[in-house]
Amino acid sequence: MTLIDRFGRPITYLRISVTDRCNLRCVYCLPEEGIEWLPRENQLSAEEIARVVEAAAQGGVRRVRLTGGEPLVRPDIVEIVARLASISGIEEVSLTTNAMLLERLAHPLADAGLKRVNISLDTLDEDKFMRITRGGSIQHLWNGIAAAEAAGLTPIKLNTVVVNGLNADEILELALMTIENAWHLRFIELMPVGNAQNWGEGFPVLSDRYISVHEMQEWLSSFSLQPETAPTGNGPARTFRIPGALGTVGFISPLGEHFCQNCNRLRLTADGCLRPCLLLDGEINVRNALRAGEPILPLLQNAVDSKPEGHELFLQHYPESRRMAQIGG
Ligand code: 5AD
Ligand code: SF4
Repeated sequence: MTLIDRFGRPITYLRISVTDRCNLRCVYCLPEEGIEWLPRENQLSAEEIARVVEAAAQGGVRRVRLTGGEPLVRPDIVEIVARLASISGIEEVSLTTNAMLLERLAHPLADAGLKRVNISLDTLDEDKFMRITRGGSIQHLWNGIAAAEAAGLTPIKLNTVVVNGLNADEILELALMTIENAWHLRFIELMPVGNAQNWGEGFPVLSDRYISVHEMQEWLSSFSLQPETAPTGNGPARTFRIPGALGTVGFISPLGEHFCQNCNRLRLTADGCLRPCLLLDGEINVRNALRAGEPILPLLQNAVDSKPEGHELFLQHYPESRRMAQIGG
């Protein structure tokens, strides 16, 4: 059986936020003081997550990505990966991380069946890294990447949220890294999700922050970027290569066109709600069904049936029920 939505899109990919907690506080994602975290008792257990994925696999889901918050702060993250990787029909379990805890966990995760990692990297400057993440260490990130490569968690994708007046001036330098490293860097437009507030001293104000992938591509025009097919999966990035480079440069434009039309995914929040769209607030609770021992596949079908054709950011309809750290990006 394949879950197919009302617009004919087969749903083969599930993104799971395993926790809303994070060991960093990136300015565009979380306020410095944190947020009111989801109650622990509402967080799905490893076993409950596995039951959702078993049902999803029966519905044709083939790839799963673990996100957060920061997924590596969950003490049972290796167990979660091991459970999901062993589910029949699941071909790939991957994970998006800030890499602060990756050096120690890369090998155990790979042994548990993890295939790949995506790592957030917004700047190459040590001090700026500390300021953007409010406390992160870029050295931990480099060590995490090295450990991930040694453990075979490749190809490595790097996510850069590009913000005008913050890191937009670094996109050339960031793109240059892909010449000698087989990394797949993706520049992501800043999404207006729970981050309209002031970020503090020295950060750009709301009206100055946004920069489109169109502008980014113009800034990189001296590289004669060659169009490529994406390294893995059919995600939302448009991918290019600097001629002769080992890695690629991609652009993700949630606010531009072509983002929704190939959407292949559902999201599951840490407290067990299926979210048909990242950027619209509707959700279907599966936690209650899990805890009542009821079947999950019908709820997955309901969530797929309620997937919208696209988000409505252009109508100024912004999601408000959850922060990015509670959806998982
Ligand atoms: N806009 C775009 N990307 C975001 N991320 C977090 N918040 C935002 C936002 N407002 C990114 C993180 C991470 C991924 C999971 O989502 O940088 O790489
Ligand atoms: Fe944490 Fe990722 Fe949000 Fe940064 S972007 S605060 S690393 S969840």
